[in-house]
Amino acid sequence: MKKSASIVLAFLLTVIHPAWAGDEAAIQRGKYLYDGADCAGCHGADPSSSTPSGGKSLTTPFGIFHAPNITPDKQFGIGTWSVEDFHHALRQGIAPGGKQLFPVFPFPSFSALTDRDMEDLYAYLMSIPPVAVPSKPHEVQAPFSWRSLMWFWRALFLKPGPYQPQAGRDAEWNRGNYLVHAVAHCQECHTPRNPMGALIQSRAFSGNIGGPDGQNAPNITSDVLTGIGGWTVDEIETLLKTGQTPAFDAVGSGMKAVVRGTSKLTDADRHAMAVYLKTVPAIRTPLPPKPVAASK
Ligand code: HEC
Ligand code: HEC
Repeated sequence: MKKSASIVLAFLLTVIHPAWAGDEAAIQRGKYLYDGADCAGCHGADPSSSTPSGGKSLTTPFGIFHAPNITPDKQFGIGTWSVEDFHHALRQGIAPGGKQLFPVFPFPSFSALTDRDMEDLYAYLMSIPPVAVPSKPHEVQAPFSWRSLMWFWRALFLKPGPYQPQAGRDAEWNRGNYLVHAVAHCQECHTPRNPMGALIQSRAFSGNIGGPDGQNAPNITSDVLTGIGGWTVDEIETLLKTGQTPAFDAVGSGMKAVVRGTSKLTDADRHAMAVYLKTVPAIRTPLPPKPVAASK
């Protein structure tokens, strides 16, 4: 082909195929991650909505946060964000214009996503219809409303990803670890937090009774007495697929929304998560280990 012709062709391809819009496979992979992470659980207008036009109010010790509109609306959503902007927000917790995000948006977990998974999520979000609804302002008092303080917080607590596969563990275990941390962000509820709202990694997965948003998240370490050490891999998989515990209870509260996400994953992915969870070091917590009554 003559040089001028290939330039014309390249130009036409960019016009017809904007970088993200054309890649149906990326959009589908992005949707899988969007569902698995249950982005809509917070960003949806109501619990059944899958459109992230802004929604859930999250009550924390620092005040009430409202999940914003992340549809591609140019005025109210993230329609003007580049893929780099989106990547930076998930990896570092910083939105365009240097706006420092609060960790009530679980970016400390999403930071572990791979570059490609972030790009796929972006491709999916840019493919959905924009919704022109303004996001609600947070109801948070100073000093917790000061975004500038997040510099300090991130310096102390953020360990930016992406996830590095652990040597000496097989691909399935690493996939499970990745899904539990980076995608399904299980620690955000099941790990206790310090007074600055950061996860206490030395107590990983040991439960957070009376945690943010009134969540009574139990101990899910492999401790036999106070965690889920007595559960088989199959039983954990069943919970992630159907929400049913080995005692034939249905999980309620925030876990119901989590299962809505994990139920959409493949069997292989749920299996990998269960395999990883079985290896989480046991931590014994005071009895009674489990919330007595859950709001269903
Ligand atoms: C636990 C609830 C929760 C979940 C789950 C959640 N988010 Fe958010 N997200 C928030 C809140 C709250 C904010 C606002 C943070 C702030 O104002 O600093 C936010 C902010 C954002 C922002 C920045 C928007 C802006 O205009 O600054 C993006 C982008 C985002 N979320 C994307 C996602 C994606 C993608 C997922 C799923 C992979 C997701 N979120 C899952 C609660 C959540
Ligand atoms: C939004 C907060 C939240 C997230 C995120 C979350 N959980 Fe939960 N989880 C809970 C709550 C709250 C309960 C208690 C539910 C109840 O009392 O019915 C629970 C219950 C459970 C149980 C049942 C434990 C028992 O002893 O009955 C398991 C197992 C579990 N979660 C695993 C997970 C895994 C794996 C993930 C990640 C895929 C996860 N959770 C993510 C809040 C959460």
